[in-house]
Amino acid sequence: VLCVLRGRSRRDGEPPLIKGWIPFIGKALEFGRDAHKFLEEHKKKFGDIFTVQIAGKYMTFIMDPLMYPSIIKHGRQLDFNEFSNTVAPFTFGYPPVISRKFPGMREKIKRSFHLLQGDSLTPLTESMMSNLMLLFRQDHLEERPGDDGGWRSGSMYEFCYTVMFEATFLTMYGRPLSAIRHSRMGVLREDFIKFDIMFPLLIAQIPLWLLGQTKAIREKLINYFLPHRMSCWSNMSQFIKRRSEVFNQYDSLTDSHKAAHHFAILWASVANTAPATFWAMYYLASHPEALQVVRQEIHDVLGLDGVEFTSDRDVTLSKEQLDKLLYLESAISESLRLSSASMNIRVAQENFDLRLDSERSVAVRKGDIIALYPQSMHLDPDIYEEPQTFQFDRYMQDGRERTDFYKNNQKLKHYLMPFGSGSSMCPGRFFAINEIKQFLCLLLLYFDVQVEDGQTRATLDSNRAGLGILQPTTDVRFRYRLRTV
Ligand code: HEM
Repeated sequence: VLCVLRGRSRRDGEPPLIKGWIPFIGKALEFGRDAHKFLEEHKKKFGDIFTVQIAGKYMTFIMDPLMYPSIIKHGRQLDFNEFSNTVAPFTFGYPPVISRKFPGMREKIKRSFHLLQGDSLTPLTESMMSNLMLLFRQDHLEERPGDDGGWRSGSMYEFCYTVMFEATFLTMYGRPLSAIRHSRMGVLREDFIKFDIMFPLLIAQIPLWLLGQTKAIREKLINYFLPHRMSCWSNMSQFIKRRSEVFNQYDSLTDSHKAAHHFAILWASVANTAPATFWAMYYLASHPEALQVVRQEIHDVLGLDGVEFTSDRDVTLSKEQLDKLLYLESAISESLRLSSASMNIRVAQENFDLRLDSERSVAVRKGDIIALYPQSMHLDPDIYEEPQTFQFDRYMQDGRERTDFYKNNQKLKHYLMPFGSGSSMCPGRFFAINEIKQFLCLLLLYFDVQVEDGQTRATLDSNRAGLGILQPTTDVRFRYRLRTV
């Protein structure tokens, strides 16, 4: 009993072990408050590798980004499925995927991810373009006489969320057979946001019955995707169609479980993209000189040659044109660097020595978690000069994308990791960048955009540190006006 209460003690060859004074909960509370600060302080004290007891788990953090490649390329001994097979099913309400009940399902799901990439990216991107255009045209582009000199005000986060939520939904799942938009999108979005607020608690595997209305809200969201509902939608993406086909091959998967899988994809495709879009818009709007360069680049790629763009024109940008928007891409990368805080997790499958570089290795025990926390790299002044400053062209060099970044004079293989790493890397990353680009193109072509005066700078809410793109602590007021008024 004493042994359980005391927890484990450090063995030879293992990294320094840091335990909290409360057994089990360990350092979870401190970590949860501000993960970046917590890790920086521990790095100063214990060096680049240390093990922390967090919420009953032993997590070994590898803080030196020069060591990242050795973790990322590790195959057999470090597994990344734990999250997708236990935490995600618990959070979204479907049974574990890797199970005797569903032979081959995980592999089939993995294979469906290519429908978000490569050649499939073209129809997906085209569909997103027309959906964004539809929403801009119906909701924002009509002139409203009587406004203050043509200026309208809005809340920036809400603006980005509303547009990206509906456009992504339409692109992924399609529209009703009899209409061009779903009628209750506002209610769906509000329920989704209520669920998303509880997301960090669900990921920590707090039982649903402790989380008030969350169970009912999740059920409502899942029910939206029941097969009899989805069968009345048209223009569905190949990706969602393929997933439906896979689920239909398993009789033991109930309709509600199928729907829960679809709901999980809605979450994956919106919950990070919406705040990422916000940060890119916010940083551009608050750096007019950067906004000017990016807008000019869009005009150049569209071949407008100084001709003013008018609001009666529709914007279409092909995938090739989007690929040419390098300053815009750099600005998006820079905002991802400043706002992303995802943790990369691997679980040790056996006791073994984990080699970190040519000199060092550490002993790891079966079941231990190895964690990379790229935010520490993103904000490292040795890699990024003035890391807290938004420099829109940080990822540009001589008119091309910059890919060489250094630590201790050594070139880094990984220097920007908002999408995870290795085999568990986000399969939607190319689509995500394209849709953020499309949103910003429409915004900058049609509108003048300004952050309203008298507000403090937007800050990151560290509430979901480790889980993806951080949200702003409070929304930002902005004004926008048709450029041709
Ligand atoms: C997984 C980030 C947008 C679909 C992930 C992971 C991260 C991430 C960090 C986990 C990787 C890991 O475990 O190491 C982001 C960010 C996005 C974004 C920052 C936007 C800025 C999207 C979009 C889609 C998508 C638009 C789909 C259309 C997925 C899926 C997974 C995933 C399906 C799970 C992959 C698996 O089970 O192996 N994403 N993502 N993501 N993402 Fe994204």
